[in-house]
Amino acid sequence: MRGGGREKIKAMLFPYYKLVCKLLWDFNNKLYLYHVELPVTLRCSLRCKKCVFMMPYFEKPVDYDVNDLLLYMDRLFDCVDAIQIFRILGGEPFLYPELGKIVDKALSSDKVKTVEVITNGTILPKNELLEKMKDPKLTVQISDYGRYSTHKTELKQACDETGVRCILRDEKEKNWFDSGGLEFRGRSAKELKKQMRHCGNICRNFLDGRLYYCPRAAFGAKLGIPDPEREYVDFTSEKTREQLRNELYDLNRRKSLSACNYCNEGTKLYVPIPVAEQMESKQRLT
Ligand SMILES: C[S@@+](CC[C@H](N)C(=O)[O-])C[C@H]1O[C@@H](n2cnc3c(N)ncnc32)[C@H](O)[C@@H]1O
Ligand code: SF4
Ligand code: SF4
Repeated sequence: MRGGGREKIKAMLFPYYKLVCKLLWDFNNKLYLYHVELPVTLRCSLRCKKCVFMMPYFEKPVDYDVNDLLLYMDRLFDCVDAIQIFRILGGEPFLYPELGKIVDKALSSDKVKTVEVITNGTILPKNELLEKMKDPKLTVQISDYGRYSTHKTELKQACDETGVRCILRDEKEKNWFDSGGLEFRGRSAKELKKQMRHCGNICRNFLDGRLYYCPRAAFGAKLGIPDPEREYVDFTSEKTREQLRNELYDLNRRKSLSACNYCNEGTKLYVPIPVAEQMESKQRLT
């Protein structure tokens, strides 16, 4: 689907998603998350100027500690009743040396219905990792950034030969948008609510043991925008399962976030842009 079509459908379906989650919670005490993204590293092999995760703007990109990630995954999976899509990504996930352990953990949970590994097609993983990813529940999704995705063809072929489900997502399907810089927009509470309704984001981002409402809030906080405690669920501290479940439910029901005041999504300023345009040298986020 092209341009703003997918965005409009996302916003249209958003109230129904919220309603289903509410009904499941109210009548069955079931906690359902549709889409959770786990960044395993901030390192990347590309420097996309308008990366939605703002990867090129991290001066010292790190890999997350694998034992920490495995522990946080256990805690999250224990709390929820189901996660429809669990996405493993980065930065570039195939740069992460311990990716196999993360894949194993995600695949071994009954609560996780499907697993996706999202890559920019610049790296060919080892056979051992390809073998691990050979599971009907998992799909490798290659973002096709044209000439920048230097190993996309070999990667697709290696997946096909090993029996790993793999999709090459064409540049035309990618639909990139500009969320703008990280400056404060000065919007009113009413405007922020309207913005969030139009944004319709259902991709929760599990960054460094904290489940954030969206990637903009997660990575924005790392890059210096306000990071209020009530706007993420913290799996790094000791909390009871019940407490974490209630916090997750509340996060899912939020009507606005402070991060929206540092973001253009859900507004007229959220415009289509070329896919994966590379940054030549160090630049600020504008
Ligand atoms: C941040 S990337 C991380 C995984 C991997 N490095 C890649 O590029 O596929 C995750 C997803 O976000 C998409 N993405 C990145 N910047 C975007 C933007 N400005 N608008 C829309 N999607 C974007 C990518 O195409 C990819 O599907
Ligand atoms: S969108 Fe580009 S910069 Fe961002 S993580 Fe993917 S490849 Fe790296
Ligand atoms: S910060 Fe707000 S408007 Fe931006 S993506 Fe997140 S929820 Fe949507």
